[in-house]
Amino acid sequence: MARTDPVKDLSETAARDELADLAVRLGRANLAYHGQDAPEISDAEYDALKQRNAAIEARFPHLKRADSPSDVVGSSPADGFAKIRHAVRMLSLANGFDAEDLREFDTRVRRYLGLADDAPLGFTAEPKIDGLSLSLRYEDGGLVQAATRGDGETGENVTANARTIADIPQRLSGAPAVLEVRGEVYMSHADFTALNARQTAAGEKPFANPRNAAAGSLRQLDAEITRARPLRFFAYAWGEVTEPLADTQKRAIDRLAALGFQTNPLTRLCDGPEEMLAHYAAIEAQRATLGYDIDGVVYKVNDLALQARLGFRSTTPRWALAHKFAAELAWTWLEAIDIQVGRTGALSPVARLHPVTVGGVVVSNATLHNEDYIAGRDAKGNPIRGGKDIRVGDWVQVYRAGDVIPKIADVDLDKRPETAQKFDFPTTCPECGSDAIREEGDAIRRCSGGLICPAQAVEKLKHLVARGAFDIEGLGAKQVEQFYRDGWIREPADIFTLRARFGSGMQQLKNREGWGELSANNLFDAIDEKRKIPLSRLLFGLGIRHVGESASALIANHYGDWDALASAMAAAQDGGEAWEELLAIDGVGQVLATSLVTAFGQAAERASIDRLVAQLSVQKADPPAQSDSPVAGKIVVFTGTLEKMTRAEAKARAESLGAKVAGSVSAKTDLLVAGPGAGSKAKKAADLGVETIDEDGWLALIGAG
Ligand code: IVH
Repeated sequence: MARTDPVKDLSETAARDELADLAVRLGRANLAYHGQDAPEISDAEYDALKQRNAAIEARFPHLKRADSPSDVVGSSPADGFAKIRHAVRMLSLANGFDAEDLREFDTRVRRYLGLADDAPLGFTAEPKIDGLSLSLRYEDGGLVQAATRGDGETGENVTANARTIADIPQRLSGAPAVLEVRGEVYMSHADFTALNARQTAAGEKPFANPRNAAAGSLRQLDAEITRARPLRFFAYAWGEVTEPLADTQKRAIDRLAALGFQTNPLTRLCDGPEEMLAHYAAIEAQRATLGYDIDGVVYKVNDLALQARLGFRSTTPRWALAHKFAAELAWTWLEAIDIQVGRTGALSPVARLHPVTVGGVVVSNATLHNEDYIAGRDAKGNPIRGGKDIRVGDWVQVYRAGDVIPKIADVDLDKRPETAQKFDFPTTCPECGSDAIREEGDAIRRCSGGLICPAQAVEKLKHLVARGAFDIEGLGAKQVEQFYRDGWIREPADIFTLRARFGSGMQQLKNREGWGELSANNLFDAIDEKRKIPLSRLLFGLGIRHVGESASALIANHYGDWDALASAMAAAQDGGEAWEELLAIDGVGQVLATSLVTAFGQAAERASIDRLVAQLSVQKADPPAQSDSPVAGKIVVFTGTLEKMTRAEAKARAESLGAKVAGSVSAKTDLLVAGPGAGSKAKKAADLGVETIDEDGWLALIGAG
């Protein structure tokens, strides 16, 4: 039950603690309630906690938390919804920006499939709707679940909200037993304008654009609010299906329309890049009069059997491309250039701009990429912007494309003040004074200070505690900065010794600005919770350059546990088989592998990693997707000419069935697939007694013959 102590007697520290406590309790109650689990507390208790929270906030407005429970209804509470794991991942799309990118897409697809330049290859082209994607699951014709995309693997359960949207059928007749329909929730311009007028009249903040309005309206804990908001839905894809919808993309979309979904009327079948470009131009010409926001055109390989062969990269399908419209532009003054030092030591110049609205969003910062970009050169030394450099005081053109960070497109030399000076890019780190070095062939200048550079150390720590890595609740960027400044956390392992060092002498932390006994204990608990950490998160959390979230998962899955990974990295220092094995992982290239092996090879860095690991219990990676294929878990090598598929396709296919594909034959190889012209590998396999089959044998083995 909520405490009854009067708010007026509450000290500031106690108030802060209680607000933190209330945020956790109310958050948990919301989750239990909306996740349709048995609610943990009664409605009356919930209301009492909420009132108490509001009363404390009214007394101490400056203590109101960024995640205040008062704001949960009416905003977008990421933690308030139950999570749903998608049966089939929800992917995003690779982007292209011009005709060249589109032609390369066509070429890439042909190359992957081994199609000649003049072989017929059809694509659909349709508007890219600027809303948020939603997956609707129908079982035996009834809508049973609706989930947002989330991180692609896990989304939020918004079933109750989706049921309020008129474009979403509640029942389907003649649908497969299981059908997941995917598409975009969006708001029309007219509805958006009317909604914002209502928001303003009610004293609420208006939404920045229709997409935000759609997202804010769908992700409401109270579905009645969603009902009152005019949301719409276009279907354009599908997830799990128990029987195929059709044999082509176009016919599948037509089938969805026949089942009762809205599909976009501008979806066309095109027979190649020229027709696709023509349709792109036609869609762009109608953009302003469509009545809803679109931000490009999506092309998809029409033949679904070819889509299946093309498959996916880590987060995007090989068979689709989003061709984005040109960005939105505005002019403003460049007030300053700041240098930020990132986690990997990169010195990134940031333009501080006089605030300007670009496509409905106020922009006051833009990236300047690197010193060449400021000087008016590209990576090869060729002039960009007609060779014009960028100076503090310049009148500059800013652009945004989609969600990307704003950039500077142009400089107006007629408006350049006489006092404007060429920008001297620093050659020492502004944070630690170490030399900032630019290596041959690298556009970026990097601080050479490594762990002694406070900016790098702090950025690494922030990365470690962030989402996707350790994701420690209550330990965000602000806290990490504070702890670093105070010398309490200098390296990752220090996070996990905080309780041991401060738990008993709590006074020190307790007396700090923003910390009380309760919040300190909550933090220690949150840290302890993350001692048990999946291998992929640990690896990603180390913040090694080029080792992103999806690469970390691939590498963790490959090696399985920490000891195997660490010893493989040690062995790979000298090249050889361990190095080859790392490179053979699909998605791991030379650059990534070099960066990873180098990080493990640096004594100071390795010692710091080991100190961290000593504090943890690293969980083994999930075994790769369960596959009952006879090749699952086998090490396979391809050699010679393959005639029915390209090498890339063969490798991707084998890996999707759970096999590991290696580049060379060794005693560990289980199977060699040898096409015509196989040479030394076939001989080595014969010497080692490794089973060898031909391409048809392989296709029969994987059930594709
Ligand atoms: S197809 C596997 N078609 O764009 C690919 N996506 O930038 C599934 N989007 O996450 C997506 N209009 O939310 C597809 N006509 C369209 C789309 C579309 C908008 C969104 C979708 C996706 C995002 C990627």
